[in-house]
Amino acid sequence: AKDMGADLEKVLLTEEQISTRLSEMAAQIDADYAGRKLLLVGVLRGAVMVMADLARKLHSPLEMDWMAVSSYGSGTRSSGVVRILKDLDSDLDGRHVLIVEDIIDSGLTLSWLLANLRSRGPASVEIATLLRKPEAAKVEVDVRYVGFDIPPEFVVGYGLDYAEDYRHLPFVGTLAPHVYGG
Ligand code: PRP
Ligand code: MN
Ligand code: MG
Repeated sequence: AKDMGADLEKVLLTEEQISTRLSEMAAQIDADYAGRKLLLVGVLRGAVMVMADLARKLHSPLEMDWMAVSSYGSGTRSSGVVRILKDLDSDLDGRHVLIVEDIIDSGLTLSWLLANLRSRGPASVEIATLLRKPEAAKVEVDVRYVGFDIPPEFVVGYGLDYAEDYRHLPFVGTLAPHVYGG
C-alpha cells in the first residue's frame, strides 16, 4: 500500500482543530438563521467532509443538496470558466441557501457559483468555507463563514485532493516536494 505518511510534509490543521472550529461555525450559523430552514449546497467533491461534519453540528432544520462544477479544465490552474457537471436537484425559489466549500483559493469557482445560484430566486445565499487563502485571491468573494485563513501553500486532506489522492485524510496537511515530482 502507498505510504501516505511519507508523502506529507506537515500537518497544518489537526482533526481536533477542524472539529472545534466547525462547532464554532455551526453555533454562529444556528444563531444567524434562528430556526429558519437551511438548504446546504455542497460543492463536489472537496466539500464532502466539511458538509458531513458541519451538518451534524447544526441544530437548525436543513436539507442537503449537491452540485458538481469543473473550473480547472485540463490544467492545474483555475480558468474561471466553470461548467456544471451535476446540477442541484432542489428548486431554490425562496430558500435560504448556504454554500458549503472546503477551500477558497482564487475565488473564481465561488464567485461564479454565487452569481449562478443568486439568479435562481433564493431568499438568501451565503457561503461557509473551512479554508481560505487570502493571498491567492483573484476575485473578492463575500464569505460569511470562514474556518481558517491559510498561507498560499498546496494543501490536501479532509476532502482536498492532489490528483484525486489524499481526500480521506482526517486532517489538513501539506505535501512533500517529491510528490509533485520535484
Ligand atoms: C477545488 C476546491 C474548490 C475550488 C477552489 O475544487 O474544492 O472547490 O477548487 O478553487 P478556486 O477558489 O481557485 O476556484 P476542484 O475544482 O479541485 O474540484 P474538487 O472539489 O473535486 O477537488
Ligand atoms: Mn471543489
Ligand atoms: Mg480538487
